[in-house]
Amino acid sequence: MAGAMEIFLFFNLILTTIWAGEDGPVDQLTARQDELLNANPANPWMFPYYYNIQPQVPFAGYAYTDGIPFYRKPSSGYFAKREIFYFLVDVSNDGHRQEDRLGFGNLGANLFGNLFTPPTRPFRPLANLFVNRMDACSSSSGDAGICTSAFACSLFSRKPSGSCNLGRVCCVEIVSSCGSTVTLNNTYWQSPSTPVSAPSTCALTVRLDTKLVEQLAKPICQIRLDFVSFMTAQPTAGTCTDTFEISGSTTTAPTICGVNSGQHMYLDIPSSATTPTDVRLSFNFGTATAITRSWKIKIAMLPCSATYLAPADCLQYFTADSGRVKSFNWQDVAGTTTRQLNNQNYDICFRTELVPSQKATQMCLSICSVSNGGDAFSITTPTSSTDAAAAVVTATTNLVKAQTTLTNAKTTLATAQTTLANAQTALTTAQNNIAPTQAALTAAKDALIPAQEAATIAEMALTDAQGAHTETQTLLTSAKESLEGKEEVLATAKEDLTKAEAAIPPDETAITDARAAATAAQTAVDEAQTAVADAETAEAKAQSDVDKALAVSDNAQTAVDKAQLAVDKAQLAADNAKTAVTDAETAVNNAKTGVNNAPAAVTDAQTAVTSAQAALTAAQIAAANAVASAAALSGVGTSAIVNGVNTATCLYDFLLIAGARDSTNVKADRYCGNALNPATTPVATSVPVCTPIKPFRMTFQTDNTEEAVTAGANILPAPADTANTGFCLDYQEK
Ligand SMILES: *[C@@H]1O[C@H](CO)[C@@H](O)[C@H](O)[C@H]1NC(C)=O
Repeated sequence: MAGAMEIFLFFNLILTTIWAGEDGPVDQLTARQDELLNANPANPWMFPYYYNIQPQVPFAGYAYTDGIPFYRKPSSGYFAKREIFYFLVDVSNDGHRQEDRLGFGNLGANLFGNLFTPPTRPFRPLANLFVNRMDACSSSSGDAGICTSAFACSLFSRKPSGSCNLGRVCCVEIVSSCGSTVTLNNTYWQSPSTPVSAPSTCALTVRLDTKLVEQLAKPICQIRLDFVSFMTAQPTAGTCTDTFEISGSTTTAPTICGVNSGQHMYLDIPSSATTPTDVRLSFNFGTATAITRSWKIKIAMLPCSATYLAPADCLQYFTADSGRVKSFNWQDVAGTTTRQLNNQNYDICFRTELVPSQKATQMCLSICSVSNGGDAFSITTPTSSTDAAAAVVTATTNLVKAQTTLTNAKTTLATAQTTLANAQTALTTAQNNIAPTQAALTAAKDALIPAQEAATIAEMALTDAQGAHTETQTLLTSAKESLEGKEEVLATAKEDLTKAEAAIPPDETAITDARAAATAAQTAVDEAQTAVADAETAEAKAQSDVDKALAVSDNAQTAVDKAQLAVDKAQLAADNAKTAVTDAETAVNNAKTGVNNAPAAVTDAQTAVTSAQAALTAAQIAAANAVASAAALSGVGTSAIVNGVNTATCLYDFLLIAGARDSTNVKADRYCGNALNPATTPVATSVPVCTPIKPFRMTFQTDNTEEAVTAGANILPAPADTANTGFCLDYQEK
């Protein structure tokens, strides 16, 4: 008991010393509590302390909000004083320690886990303890920390560094792991000591919740990140391959990469008193390996009540009357690669600072001076080269068209020439064909004539033969008739003879006469028979002659028919040959027309190609000049219409300084190109510009590409951006 009493006195001494000289209401309360405690050293458990927590909280690190007064003496005699309450804050019923949070863990659980009964009434002196005892401080190394007792600092597993007021130490927390959760103000997150592997991710959660005992009394509305150092891979054509991204805040922070040491960001969150928020910071490293990736980020939690919060929507906030403002990844280094980051869209705000005893009425901006070859203002390519680039595109298109036309004309000419040659050949052939067909026709006709003559002769011969035949027939008939007559005479004579011989008395004379008459009659018959035989022979011969003549006539007729057929064929061939010649002549005439017209088309097309080529060359020279000069020009200008297309000026990437004007009152809101200058005709030199428009604020915006923007429906074309660096400006309020 004596040992315990000593410890109690020791704590009381420390606490009383620490709290002396602080006179807030809480301090007054705690001072009264101390008095009470000191007044009753023998019975420390009777002091009117209430505590707001109990060991059985369901979630590590969360304070119990429905706390009850603690006034009961624990079962053993401990000095349940304020430092002890600190321990209890972070003790959960399973002894689990929330990583990188207030790290009392099992220490508290072991020491005090069984000491207390559940609280029954809300009262939060500890919250006040945290807030009032953990003010921000600056350590001897320059890092920010929280001002606390060395004892508490060591219990937090933090690093005491230098002293702060009233004998306390500046207690610094540095987290160098991935996946941690932080809840204490001014925690530093830095890269692990071993090199970052690639590809990989590394994230940190910042938990904001007034139910956390270390955040009990001061609701947080904003976080300020200070990139003490920040080194990742450079973007590829403006697009980050290593990314640093923030989620959970109501401010939409752009994705950044490259070199951002010295930069800062303000992030709005809903009040942690009403809405617990996890803000997540995450690095996503790409595949590039030969790169040193390192960072050290200070995370400050700004109370809702603070007067120094950044205005809404201000990712960056500058509170001095002069200083320097740079786009993310801007560096004073020479280079031809793009340092400007794509997809930026944020506001940079400036407090209207008091300049000797009055509020500033204007803010002036001028480009930083560079000493390492850096480019202080290079946001995008100005319009002058836009026009030229568009002209090159148009000229190239025209040239291609003209070349196609020429090729087509040449093809047409060649085809026409081939056609003509073929037609002429066909004509010659057709013409050559006429002579033989006509010769054949003539020959056929010649052959027809003798055949016809022969046929005529044969017919005449036939007629003769038929005539002769008829005669022989007539002769035969009359010979036969004559024979019959003779035979009758003979018969009569024979009868007479018979009669004469039969006459009694015989009449020798009559008989002799009768015999002579019969003999004469017989002779006449014989002669008549001979005549018939002769007539028959003649008739047979005539018949044979007719047959022969008929055959000859038939043959002659056949020959005539054949000859006629040959004539007909030859006539047809001759007619066809003539038609072919006519056709071939027509084809030749047509082909000649084609051939005559084609050379003119070829000449025209060649002329077009020549002029298109000249136009392209001129446009290319103009573009080269424009690009060369664009590297040093301001890009404010006015958008120009090229070939009926309006091209973009400061439309996609720009720095917006509302109402900014140069010394001669030339004004422009958007600035781009390679010189800060509101001149409408692009110029190479930057000039200071001032704006009277309050609150002083700039907006930096870049689109998602450094590539050219192609014209489309409702899309204005823009040239490709190259080697843009972003901006570095010195500001001065006046
Ligand atoms: C956290 O620290 C900053 C200084 O870095 C200070 O301005 C701020 O008030 C502190 N926040 C709280 C809740 O105490």
